[in-house]
Amino acid sequence: MPRYAYVNGRYLPHAQAAVHIEDRGYQFADGVYEVVPVFKGALVDEGPHLDRLERSLRELRIDMPVARATLKLISRELMRRNDLTQGMLYLQVTRGVAPRDHKFPAQATPALVMTTRQTKPHSEALLNQGIKVIAVPDIRWERCDIKSISLLPNVLAKQQATEAGAYEAWQIDGEGYVTEGSSTNAWIVSAEGKVVTRDASHAILSGITRLSLLKLIREAGFEVEERAFTLEEAKTAREAFLTSSSSFVLPIVAIDETPVGNGHPGILSGKLRARYLDYMAALGADPGGGTGAGAGIEGAA
Ligand code: PDD
Repeated sequence: MPRYAYVNGRYLPHAQAAVHIEDRGYQFADGVYEVVPVFKGALVDEGPHLDRLERSLRELRIDMPVARATLKLISRELMRRNDLTQGMLYLQVTRGVAPRDHKFPAQATPALVMTTRQTKPHSEALLNQGIKVIAVPDIRWERCDIKSISLLPNVLAKQQATEAGAYEAWQIDGEGYVTEGSSTNAWIVSAEGKVVTRDASHAILSGITRLSLLKLIREAGFEVEERAFTLEEAKTAREAFLTSSSSFVLPIVAIDETPVGNGHPGILSGKLRARYLDYMAALGADPGGGTGAGAGIEGAA
């Protein structure tokens, strides 16, 4: 259990941290969030995560709650206080507190909450076994590129997956193409051996893990295509896997009970997971990319 959460300028004992009942995040899901992985004590891809946070805020016309440099200092201080070495940093920004009214309030100060969570590495058993996904219709809005805290369709999809004994739900658009998982990006290795993931558009969240992995795949000289693929193509693909800040790269062995490939985690998926873990570990080894000093900034925002 983390000891502290950060709420609007204060580091509070986690159990007592709270926001106002008229916070627009609570009433309208009027806000955005980020999940930044922490690996070997270092934030992974902090820059791209903060870029995406700023973009999501811009799209919704919410101001940054504090300067980016301050956000970085608070992150490090919270990680230090919570002894966070492996897990995730969660940041949430809402439009703030105002009497309930749909239109933007004339005056509201964006609210900032940050928490951390320590997680264990995925078990060898899970990695050796691989995971299952199910397909569900994509019933979300048309701006899935914004990392909004409005996640009801994702919540329902993940619950459906869980009840079906699957790890994730792949959402399928009106034309039969896979958009993405409820909280992960979707990938296949096509029958021709190309790594395929949907192109970034308003239909998916442009995952930071997806971006870093695309770079690693290209550097390694594997062929990669950013394009939409159908559920049918996925079911006949050689391999499938998913990516996210909390799952990294996880091999998929069945879609709707149809085995993918030979029904075992794919070789390329395994290689890509290993490369991604090496990439994260290298960030942790680099003091420039790691957790810096952040003491003495209590009440910094
Ligand atoms: N989910 N697609 C959706 C809908 C997501 O919610 C996420 C992240 C991703 C992967 O993005 P990234 O690689 O930047 O984590 C794709 C986070 C982890 C969550 O909601 O917990």
